[in-house]
Amino acid sequence: MKCTGDRLDLIDQRILPMQIKYISCANAASVAAAIRDMVVRGAPAIGCAAAFGVALEARSAAGRPRQEFDQHMAEAIQTLARSRPTAVNLFWALSRMKKILIGNSGQSNAEIAHALLVEAQSVLSEDIETNHAIGDAGAALVPPDACIMTHCNAGALATGGHGTALGIVRSARDQGKRPTVIATETRPFLQGARLTAWELVQEAIPVTLITDNMAGHMMRRGKVNLVIVGADRVAANGDVANKIGTYTLAVLAARHGIPFYVAAPLSTVDLGTATGEDIQIEERAADEVTGYAGTRWAPVGVSVANPAFDITSAELVTAIVTERGVLRGPDESKIRALFER
Ligand code: MRU
Repeated sequence: MKCTGDRLDLIDQRILPMQIKYISCANAASVAAAIRDMVVRGAPAIGCAAAFGVALEARSAAGRPRQEFDQHMAEAIQTLARSRPTAVNLFWALSRMKKILIGNSGQSNAEIAHALLVEAQSVLSEDIETNHAIGDAGAALVPPDACIMTHCNAGALATGGHGTALGIVRSARDQGKRPTVIATETRPFLQGARLTAWELVQEAIPVTLITDNMAGHMMRRGKVNLVIVGADRVAANGDVANKIGTYTLAVLAARHGIPFYVAAPLSTVDLGTATGEDIQIEERAADEVTGYAGTRWAPVGVSVANPAFDITSAELVTAIVTERGVLRGPDESKIRALFER
């Protein structure tokens, strides 16, 4: 993503890789719509986009009287906060932006708008740095010729750049290892088939695409050395919310003695949420399940469930890889200690 100050350009992830098109957002409402409609998705990328949404709104509202400006900004932040409920990076980024609004309240509206843009640029550049740190720490877990199974897309598209789970794959490759990847297609939105496969094909990292229901077979046949996924929210006890289907892979990995790693920045760890059961799981529209891209295959009248995420208990997670290193056997005390370093 790129922000010039008066607009945010986002690659439209709904139509990748069939079409490469950009969508421009000029205010908080258009950024919120882009997040809700999945133009931009992936926990860290949502956070970065929301930060720019606040900055763009401040720029366009800077001419208003102060009281009106403050009210307007509070509403814009609310609009962004309502776009998607599960990824905590969204709320983490908005709270960073609120602090800048409050901390600069003695300045002019134009100066506040400038400070917000500088902060949004920092959210983006820090995320890229963080992903490189996650990649370096995680690459140590990857044997030289490992086959890594991943789910959904936790790559450059889902972050500011480099990626979390795919960041580890990239860093391992950069260190001279020869990782190969099995990407699950990730129904219903096909982030694996469309986005992860696209990122890896572009970089000539060998990738094999499978449908979600092939994962157990691949593990049973000894084709998978480790699983690495991203996260949308890690609760204080180490439970992980991530794309629907992650829990299935974690159970399968445990059954087959395969390490199951979660790659996530500290901005994804939510100490305010005690366990996975306290995380709100987004329920998305039925038409994502009854068909795809305008083609319907399920009968009219069928009832549909479409939870976008699931919870993997901490006990199924071999380690969480953050920018502070590899945290094995995550539990509340180890997770809290991460923030005290
Ligand atoms: O619904 P999505 O595509 O936003 O879900 C994304 C995921 O579940 C990712 O694994 C997660 O956000 C981590 S991205 C680094």
